Amino acid sequence: MASEAFFPDLSLASGLKRYSVSLLVLAVALGIRALLDPSWVSHTPYVTVFAATIFASWYGGIWPGILIAVLGVLASNLFFVYPLYSLRPYGRAEVLASGILYIATCVPIIAIGEANRRSTQRRCEAQDLLRQCNSDLETRVQQRTAELETSNQGLRKLSSRLMQLQDEERRKFSRELHDSLGQILVMAKLNLSKLFQKNPHDKLLAETEKLLEEALVETRTISHLLHPPLLDEMGLVSAAKWYVKGFAQRSGIQVSIEVGHDFARMPRSTELVLFRILQESLTNIYKYANASRAEVFLGSKSSDVLLQVRDYGKGIPPETLESLQCQGADMGVGLPGMRERVNEQGGRFEIHSDDTGTLISVTMPTDERNPC
Ligand SMILES: Nc1ncnc2c1ncn2[C@@H]1O[C@H](COP(=O)(O)OP(=O)(O)OP(=O)(O)O)[C@@H](O)[C@H]1O
Ligand SMILES: [Mg+2]
Repeated sequence: MASEAFFPDLSLASGLKRYSVSLLVLAVALGIRALLDPSWVSHTPYVTVFAATIFASWYGGIWPGILIAVLGVLASNLFFVYPLYSLRPYGRAEVLASGILYIATCVPIIAIGEANRRSTQRRCEAQDLLRQCNSDLETRVQQRTAELETSNQGLRKLSSRLMQLQDEERRKFSRELHDSLGQILVMAKLNLSKLFQKNPHDKLLAETEKLLEEALVETRTISHLLHPPLLDEMGLVSAAKWYVKGFAQRSGIQVSIEVGHDFARMPRSTELVLFRILQESLTNIYKYANASRAEVFLGSKSSDVLLQVRDYGKGIPPETLESLQCQGADMGVGLPGMRERVNEQGGRFEIHSDDTGTLISVTMPTDERNPC
């Protein structure tokens, strides 16, 4: 392990490099052998060459190992065995025996070195493959993340467009109700009043006139709830006060509304978003909170506007809040819709809820360049 850390890529060196380095090491080994005590001459001719062969087998593999072993025997005989510079040594049998012994020792060393080199090479190849797979995987994850982000953006755009269309539909339907059905009912009531004046004791006429009056009020209420005309004409504060008053009467929940002193009119889209959030928050309080009272606050701070709706009910279940954090995949459209509307306008949407009640808090920038 330690040698791999120091020479991690040696076994993968190119063929030429492996031979060159092995030959260089042999030259160094011969040099060192030459520097040793001259009295060693003839006694231990292969001592340093042996080390060079081990290195060449480990580093270069089988062929550089064999080359260095053979060259090592020849060079050692040439330089360190009497007579020097001759390959015909004195005491040939003895020298031959030690040479054979040297070669025989080199064979397993070369085999082990080659096996080691191959296994290192395979490990390096596996590591390369792993690195390649990793980088492929990372590229794929990045691609998928980008695709997911694009489709999320598409979904966000779609849901914002749907909410816009819903607002437009509500506005149109509200006007239709008011201008056609409302007017027809008014005319019918007028006609009935005339008939009633002629027959003041007719009970059926009196009852019908009362029913028509109720139908007129109901039509107006539905029309105004769909899209309060006050919102466009008088602004958010008037529409909110009107809505809160009507809601309190209908629901029996005590709701107070407080408006900051310098609260001014805002772009139509901002006022509409805040009004829809107020509507949905109060509807949720009526449906789920089991609260006897609630508070609405409208205020402004520098270029931001703040809407807070607080109730003192039982609070939103923790799992619903958690689900909302995870994009609200399996819940109603009320709370996620509020958040989408606010995000769309560059605002901030927060919910704090526990068993003492719920606070919906919305901060929206008011765009001075886009007056209502
Ligand atoms: N003020 C509140 N107090 C207690 N629980 C609430 C309150 N507001 C919302 N919830 C809980 O959060 C859930 C999700 O509300 P949300 O408005 O998103 O959907 P919904 O009202 O169920 O359906 P939709 O608004 O689409 O008609 C509700 O089902 C309810 O359990
Ligand atoms: Mg709801």
